Amino acid sequence: MGAVVRGIGIYHPETVLTNSDIEKIVETTDEWITTRTGIKQRYILPKGSKLKASDFGSYAAMAALEKAGLTPGDIDGIICANINPDKQFPATACFIQAKIGAKKAFAFDVTAACAGFVYAANMAALLIDSGQCRNILVIGSEILSPVLDWTDRNTCILFGDAAGAVVFSAGPKERGILLSQLKSDGTQSEVLYLNLSGDEGRRGMFMDGKQVFKAAVTEITDIVRSTVAKGGYAVKDLDLLVMHQANVRIIGAIADKLELPPEKVVINVDRFGNTSSASIPLALHEADGQGRLKPGMLVALAAVGGGMSWGCNLMRW
Ligand code: UT7
Repeated sequence: MGAVVRGIGIYHPETVLTNSDIEKIVETTDEWITTRTGIKQRYILPKGSKLKASDFGSYAAMAALEKAGLTPGDIDGIICANINPDKQFPATACFIQAKIGAKKAFAFDVTAACAGFVYAANMAALLIDSGQCRNILVIGSEILSPVLDWTDRNTCILFGDAAGAVVFSAGPKERGILLSQLKSDGTQSEVLYLNLSGDEGRRGMFMDGKQVFKAAVTEITDIVRSTVAKGGYAVKDLDLLVMHQANVRIIGAIADKLELPPEKVVINVDRFGNTSSASIPLALHEADGQGRLKPGMLVALAAVGGGMSWGCNLMRW
């Protein structure tokens, strides 16, 4: 069976943090952030809020279920990608299962940083193709603002808080996720990581921005090319490429290398910042709302993040 997208839902907090707001927190400028990243604003959890990743995830999940015309009782499995879970264990997906009342669903988390959604979608496709499940909720839910180091201008300007959820349902084999490729390189684990223990004298996100930038452009370009080729297509056959939203310069460099025109590439990092595993469902939701996703289109999802971990799902919409 094909794992076909049946509904997409998102959630983000109301509070907007603009680049001008960040100018008051660290030594930076709207001009620097805009030209280096393309980000103009991001949504963040309001100070004092008790909401957790599972709250964001369950709001997005309920919106996706409504779009799909399904109820929580129809869901066989919940896979949640995130980097700042509610608790060390149990899985954030288990809290979501309880909050939405998806009684028959199994639930587990995937940790693949910004590539988490692509990894989780691959798992959903395999579970549906095997006949084990009919409906799976794949969720990327990220609350990053409370764990960022707000004295580090290298990282605090980049990230936002949000969640996105997609209901994948069993459909015809020729539709949905046609194939996926996943890759990791643990020797690069030092270039991007989150340390909350404080054992290195500082808590927060650590990033070698230049190295991550280079790896992102190289690995996404390569994995999109090879996944599309493995499916028997050429890159020019793609109708839409939905990439992890980290930086417009990364997205632009990849689009140039793949010779894809702007209308075939989704960009919303300007309004959301980097929302890690939530960025692809957020981008899909926006593209869908703009009528840019039509049945029969060839679509690729691609992401790279800490690990380093990266991957690509090739889909027939
Ligand atoms: O999901 C994956 C997560 N991360 C990423 O995708 C990030 C990938 N990397 C990037 O997006 C870019 O590397 C950054 C946006 C993080 C940085 O852009 P860059 O063009 O690589 O800048 P840089 O790190 O080379 O810094 C250039 C200068 C430095 O000053 P000096 O050494 O030239 O005097 C930095 O100290 O800009 C300075 N700088 C800033 N200035 C103003 C760094 N951050 C800031 C800032 N405001 N926020």
